[in-house]
Formats: sequence, structure tokens, C-alpha cells
Amino acid sequence: MNGKSRKYTLLSLILLTAALSLVSCVEIKKSRPILKIKEYERLIAGRLDAQYVGTRACLSACHAHDDIKRAFDASTMGAQMKGNTQMPMVDCESCHGPGSLAIKGITKELVEENKKRGIKTTCNYKTLIDIKNLPAPAKSLICLKCHTANATFNLHEWNTGIHAINDVSCPDCHNIHGGPDLKVKPVDTAEMCFKCHQDIKAYYNMPNHHPVLEKKVFCTDCHNPHGTTTEHLLKRETVRQTCTQCHGEKQGPYLYEHGDLTEECTTCHLPHGSPNNNLLKVREPFLCLECHETHPVNTITGETISAETKQYFFTRCTDCHSAIHGTDTPSPSGKGRFIQ
Ligand code: HEC
Ligand code: HEC
Ligand code: HEC
Ligand code: HEC
Ligand code: HEC
Ligand code: HEC
Ligand code: HEC
Ligand code: HEC
Ligand code: HEC
Repeated sequence: MNGKSRKYTLLSLILLTAALSLVSCVEIKKSRPILKIKEYERLIAGRLDAQYVGTRACLSACHAHDDIKRAFDASTMGAQMKGNTQMPMVDCESCHGPGSLAIKGITKELVEENKKRGIKTTCNYKTLIDIKNLPAPAKSLICLKCHTANATFNLHEWNTGIHAINDVSCPDCHNIHGGPDLKVKPVDTAEMCFKCHQDIKAYYNMPNHHPVLEKKVFCTDCHNPHGTTTEHLLKRETVRQTCTQCHGEKQGPYLYEHGDLTEECTTCHLPHGSPNNNLLKVREPFLCLECHETHPVNTITGETISAETKQYFFTRCTDCHSAIHGTDTPSPSGKGRFIQ
């Protein structure tokens, strides 16, 4: 591929993307009205005629939520106390809204009496915020009222990130009442992501893959699920920088570079998994033959095999061109052929 035709491909790609996004913008507007932020805020205010009563008042009469409370108290969020007052900074009502109406009329005595009659006492939870059925941006806003971009640096690009735009919300990934661990641990990340990204899981089941299922490499080594300014939620500026953070030896610069190919590792490699060795997009020698002519080679026994013979195709080009990512050592003819 020469530079000119690349530019043309790029140009037509840009035009195509522009046209497509124009079409999809219209789609979005038609199918899903985007509410003003103040309407989302109204959704998460809770009942205006209810009062905040505090976690203790919420839970003291009835023990239905003791497990939730225990796990929550042991979490980073539940453990936050206001300075000298020792009052919790985050309690049940921070997310579920004011609770006075929900517990109105519920007393220890009533709960006991009901129990004797075999009846379970439930609070009037319909007066609380219906978190489950809120639109995604409102769900996230519950969290974002405290987790501002300043408080949680990682969330700087949340609003423009592809997850937020596609109606993924904080509780889709963070299981608030799953236990005391609110953060998604690196070892648990892949399974969590696969809930929605089944297609990526398929790559990790291919014969050659980054050891993610083996829990040596993690989705979050390369991606920031909260949003980035880069494409594909990549943590680093470019794909190349993403790869060379671990494969530093491929970074160069070399005296003999492989054209400008290694600017994009994904010219030849897939990031997650591949049916071919070395995560190659296409098997050797076909990968090389996408861009190069074949040439006759001498075998160890000194005999020359022409490009047309079948054996030739069983030869991996990199058996000889072993420094395929670049080298400082010239070939015998004094050129950069990546053979040493
Ligand atoms: C940081 C926000 C937050 C706090 C604080 C919080 N919750 Fe929740 N709670 C949620 C979210 C989010 C859901 C899940 C809604 C859904 O299913 O999508 C939920 C669901 C629930 C449910 C429904 C049952 C379930 O497990 O899905 C109960 C009951 C509950 N919370 C009780 C409590 C109690 C009691 C406290 C205080 C000890 C509390 N919550 C504190 C966010 C919070
Ligand atoms: C009332 C304020 C408040 C609300 C609402 C709130 N948080 Fe928090 N959250 C905190 C505080 C304070 C901490 C502990 C300090 C910190 O890590 O920033 C915390 C900690 C966390 C952590 C753990 C951080 C760590 O390093 O271990 C996660 C994850 C988290 N919150 C997620 C959420 C999600 C998801 C929601 C919405 C369902 C939410 N929070 C709503 C105040 C809040
Ligand atoms: C697509 C999944 C996903 C969504 C959506 C998501 N998170 Fe996270 N979050 C993670 C993962 C994974 C981690 C662990 C990051 C790591 O290990 O580098 C994390 C970490 C955190 C932490 C710990 C501190 C930090 O910066 O690492 C906080 C706080 C947090 N998230 C809050 C939120 C809030 C608030 C929202 C919604 C605005 C949200 N998250 C949405 C997956 C998600
Ligand atoms: C070694 C780094 C790395 C790891 C680990 C990684 N990714 Fe990626 N991922 C990338 C790169 C690079 C791209 C962009 C590929 C491109 O430009 O063609 C990408 C693209 C994606 C895409 C969008 C493109 C597509 O193919 O649909 C999704 C979704 C994705 N990754 C999900 C995940 C999930 C889920 C995990 C963990 C199970 C994960 N990734 C682990 C590097 C990584
Ligand atoms: C609740 C579902 C859900 C979960 C969980 C989830 N994602 Fe996504 N993700 C989406 C949706 C929806 C999109 C946007 C549409 C698409 O490209 O598939 C998306 C897009 C992405 C993209 C960008 C794709 C592109 O083409 O640029 C990456 C990368 C990605 N997710 C990685 C992750 C990682 C890593 C995790 C786990 C930490 C994760 N996702 C968890 C639903 C989810
Ligand atoms: C978080 C660190 C990390 C990042 C980032 C990373 N890799 Fe890897 N890579 C590894 C590990 C670990 C292995 C496995 C090495 C082993 O099994 O001995 C590996 C193996 C490979 C292999 C060889 C596979 C095989 O069969 O031996 C290739 C090719 C590769 N990575 C390419 C890439 C590319 C391309 C990127 C960028 C999209 C990338 N890597 C990003 C850690 C990383
Ligand atoms: C022109 C195609 C091409 C490009 C571009 C390319 N690679 Fe490779 N890469 C290969 C081939 C072919 C192999 C197999 C080499 C072999 O079998 O000796 C390989 C093997 C690897 C390996 C595993 C074996 C080893 O040498 O450690 C890693 C890691 C790797 N590449 C990383 C990268 C990174 C990082 C980039 C981007 C900076 C990149 N590659 C760009 C073709 C390429
Ligand atoms: C995407 C296209 C592409 C692929 C795939 C590719 N190359 Fe290249 N290769 C190039 C370009 C472009 C150059 C630089 C040519 C120049 O500078 O004249 C180059 C240069 C070379 C050179 C040096 C030749 C010279 O004239 O200096 C060798 C040897 C080479 N490649 C071998 C390989 C092998 C072996 C593979 C497969 C592992 C491969 N290439 C895959 C495009 C590619
Ligand atoms: C048996 C070893 C061997 C194999 C296998 C091999 N090459 Fe070469 N190749 C060489 C040598 C030696 C040179 C010349 C080096 C010099 O100029 O000093 C060379 C030169 C080249 C050149 C430079 C342009 C030219 O024709 O002089 C390209 C491009 C190239 N090889 C591509 C390939 C591709 C593609 C394959 C696989 C289909 C391949 N080679 C397989 C040994 C090999």
C-alpha cells in the first residue's frame, strides 16, 4: 500500500463515518428523547413530602435488611464518617431517598405481632426512589452527586464515554449490595464485562490469546470503562502505547524500521485473541504476502525453492526475517531486511 492510496482510504473512511453518524444521530433523537439534566435530577430527589430519618430509624424496627447493612457498613462507602460527629457520610437514604413515608407506622411491636401471625412486614418501599426503573442517566446521577469528576478523578470523561452514551449506568458494573467490596477487583473484571461483551469472550477462547482468563492480564490494563478521550476506551493515547506499556522491547526507534507499520500494532495483531499464533490477524506467510512479493529462498541444504513450489508456503517468513518489528543491525547486503 502506498501513502497516497492510504490517504484516500482514510478520507473515504472519514466521509463514510461522518455520513453514518449523521444518520445515527437522527436515529437516536427519534427513538429516545434525551431529557434535560434537571428532569433527571427531579427523578432522583425522591418524594418531596418525605423526610430523611437516618439509617438507624430506617432499619431499627425490622431486621429484613441487616445483611445489606452489615456489608454496606464494611465497605469504603459505609465506613466514611463525618469528622468529629461520627455520623455516616453515606447512608441508605443517600441513594434511596428520604425514608419517613416508607417506615410510617412500622414499630417493633407491629413487626413482632405480624411475625407471630406468620406475616412478613414490608416497608412502603414504593415511596422510595424506584432505582431499578430509572433511566440510566438518572441512575448514574445518584452516584455522581457525590462522585464528581473532582472527587473521583477516573470519572472525568464519564459523560462523553461510550458506556454513558449507550445507557450503561454505574450499578450495571458496581454491585452495591453484593458484599463489602464496591470496587470491581481486577480478577473479577473479565466476567463482569463479558455479561455484555460476549463477542470479546469468544476471542479469549481462541487458541492464542492474552492471558486474561488466566488472570494475568486484565481488561483494565488496557481499558478505562469510565470513559476516555481515546477511541475504544483505551487508557493510553494510542493502540501502540497500549501495547508497548508491556512489550517495551517492540517500541524502537530502530535504525531499520518496518516502514511505518509498527505505528499500529493492530496492522498485524489482534488485541484479545486469534486463531493464529502470536495473535496474528492472518497466518504467515499470507500476512506478509498481503503486502509483499514472494522471493526464492535457499534452504539449509543450499537448494533453491522457487516461490511457486508448494513447500515454500510452509515456510514462515520470520524464520529468516526474525527481527520483524525493526532492528539496528543491517542485513548482509547492507540493507534493513530484518533478518538479524
Ligand atoms: C450508594 C448507593 C446506595 C446506598 C448507600 C444504598 N443502596 Fe440499596 N440499592 C442501591 C442500588 C443501586 C440498588 C439496586 C437497584 C437495582 O436493582 O437496579 C439497591 C437496591 C436495594 C434493595 C433492593 C434489593 C436488592 O438487593 O436488590 C434494598 C432492599 C436496598 N437497596 C437496601 C438498602 C439499605 C438497607 C441501605 C443502607 C444500609 C442501602 N440500600 C444503601 C444503591 C444504594
Ligand atoms: C452520599 C455520597 C455518595 C453517594 C451517593 C455514592 N457514593 Fe460511592 N463513595 C462515597 C464516599 C465518601 C466513598 C469513599 C471515599 C472514596 O473512595 O471516594 C465512596 C466510595 C465508593 C467506591 C469505592 C472506592 C474505593 O476506592 O474502594 C465505589 C466503587 C463507589 N463509591 C461507587 C458508588 C456508586 C456506584 C454509587 C451509586 C450507586 C455511589 N458510589 C454513590 C460517597 C458516595
Ligand atoms: C462498565 C463498567 C463500569 C461502569 C459503568 C462504572 N464503573 Fe466504576 N469501576 C469499574 C471497574 C472495572 C473499576 C476498577 C478499576 C480498576 O481496577 O482500574 C471501577 C472503579 C471505580 C471506583 C474506584 C476508584 C477508581 O477510580 O478506580 C469508583 C469510585 C467508581 N468506579 C465509581 C463509578 C461511578 C460513580 C460510576 C458511574 C458514574 C461507575 N463507576 C461506572 C467499572 C465500571
Ligand atoms: C492488551 C490490551 C487489551 C486488553 C487486556 C483488553 N483489550 Fe479490549 N481492546 C484493546 C484494543 C487495542 C482495542 C482496539 C482494537 C482496534 O483498534 O482494532 C480493543 C477493543 C475492544 C472493544 C471494541 C472493539 C471490538 O472488537 O468490539 C471492546 C468491546 C473491548 N476491547 C472489550 C474488552 C474486554 C471486555 C476486555 C477484558 C475481558 C478487554 N477488552 C481486554 C486492547 C485490550
Ligand atoms: C451493562 C452492559 C455492559 C457492561 C457490563 C460493560 N459494557 Fe462495555 N459497552 C456496552 C455497550 C452497550 C457499549 C456500546 C456499544 C458497543 O460498542 O457494543 C460498550 C462499549 C464498550 C467499548 C467500546 C467499543 C468500541 O467499539 O469502541 C469498550 C472498549 C468496552 N465497552 C469495554 C468494556 C469493559 C472493559 C467492561 C468491563 C469493565 C465493559 N465494557 C462492561 C455495555 C457494557
Ligand atoms: C498488561 C500487559 C500487556 C499489554 C498491555 C499487552 N500485552 Fe501482549 N502479552 C502480555 C502477556 C503477559 C503475554 C503472554 C506472554 C506469555 O505467555 O509468555 C503477552 C503475549 C503477547 C503476544 C504473543 C502471544 C503468544 O502466542 O505468545 C503477542 C503477539 C502480544 N502479546 C501482542 C500484544 C499487542 C499487539 C498488544 C497491544 C494491543 C499487547 N500485546 C498488549 C502482556 C501484555
Ligand atoms: C508487520 C506486521 C507486524 C506488526 C506491525 C507488529 N508485529 Fe508483532 N509480530 C509479528 C509477527 C509476524 C510475529 C511472529 C514472530 C515470530 O514468529 O518470530 C510477531 C510477534 C510479536 C510478539 C510475540 C513474540 C515476540 O517477539 O515477543 C509480540 C509481543 C509482538 N509481536 C508485539 C508487537 C507490538 C507491541 C507491535 C506494535 C508496536 C507489533 N507487534 C507490531 C508481526 C507484526
Ligand atoms: C501492511 C503491509 C505489510 C505487511 C503485512 C508486511 N509488510 Fe513488510 N514492509 C511493508 C512496507 C510498507 C515496508 C517498507 C518498504 C520500503 O521502505 O520500501 C516493508 C518492508 C519490509 C522488508 C524490507 C524490505 C525493503 O525493501 O527494505 C522486509 C524484509 C519485510 N517488509 C518483510 C515482511 C515480512 C516477513 C512480513 C510478514 C511477517 C511483512 N513484511 C509484513 C509492508 C508490509
Ligand atoms: C530462508 C530465509 C528467508 C525466507 C524464508 C524469506 N526470506 Fe525474504 N529475504 C531473505 C534474504 C536473505 C533477503 C535479502 C537480504 C539482504 O538483502 O541482505 C530477503 C529479502 C527480502 C525482501 C526485500 C526485497 C527483496 O526482494 O530483496 C523482502 C520484501 C522479503 N525478503 C520478504 C519475504 C517474505 C514476504 C517472505 C515469506 C513469504 C520471505 N521474505 C521469506 C531471506 C528469507
